[in-house]
Amino acid sequence: MALLDKHHKIEKNVSLMLVLTLITVAIGGLVEIVPLFTIETTIERVKGVRPYSPLELSGRNIYIREGCYLCHSQQIRPFRDEAERYGHYSLAAESMYDHPFQWGSKRTGPDLARVGGKYSNDWHAAHLADPRSVVPESIMPPYAFLYERPVSDSDIADHLLANRAVGVPYDETAIENAAADLRDQADPAADHEGLLARYPKAAVGDFDGRPGPPSEMDALIAYLQILGRMVDFTDVRPDDLRQQ
Ligand code: HEC
Repeated sequence: MALLDKHHKIEKNVSLMLVLTLITVAIGGLVEIVPLFTIETTIERVKGVRPYSPLELSGRNIYIREGCYLCHSQQIRPFRDEAERYGHYSLAAESMYDHPFQWGSKRTGPDLARVGGKYSNDWHAAHLADPRSVVPESIMPPYAFLYERPVSDSDIADHLLANRAVGVPYDETAIENAAADLRDQADPAADHEGLLARYPKAAVGDFDGRPGPPSEMDALIAYLQILGRMVDFTDVRPDDLRQQ
């Protein structure tokens, strides 16, 4: 009974109730937040996730420049309908090297988190140049000008360095080889051994179907082709994904 009386006091005194509420919320907050400071990362590491290759990174920069994220999300939510349409739901680790991340908030077009490998390079080139040539009812704008614009390799090492400054683990060899890697990935005749050792699963080839130095079309398609392909999701169980 005595306890109930005390509680009456709290309920009838707004200021007292406010102070006690704040204290309770603060304790709850501390218990939830403080442990997070003691761990290095809240993202669970997942096998296969690697930094973008120089050509993919250039493609990603073009994706951001052109505002593709205004119509496309890159985050598959953990619902059955999403998983059936797009594949395994997105893991936090899959965008851990994305600065800024491309989760997006608008889906005028489909989610692109796992579009890599879904279509051929030729399909992407035709679609980007003139979406209605392959999807007649499409409302996506055409990006044919990307064929004409060479992708610059002079500043690509700086892009890698900028990413490294925010925590993406590009090592010295990656920086030194950045310009060469950028050119080689779009050149079917080049030696891809070093490139593929640094960037496993990178798609190599003439992405835009036109010979010559890499165009922005090559870069954008190289980027689209790696999306969602870094992690092997065949026969996954959550425990299999952990690195150690
Ligand atoms: C105005 C909105 C809009 C913009 C901007 C846009 N898209 Fe699209 N996109 C769509 C729509 C709608 C579709 C579905 C119809 C189609 O396939 O063309 C689509 C489809 C796609 C597909 C095929 C996806 C699939 O799974 O079938 C890809 C790949 C794609 N877009 C890439 C891009 C890229 C890269 C950019 C930026 C250069 C971009 N889009 C900009 C609206 C947009």
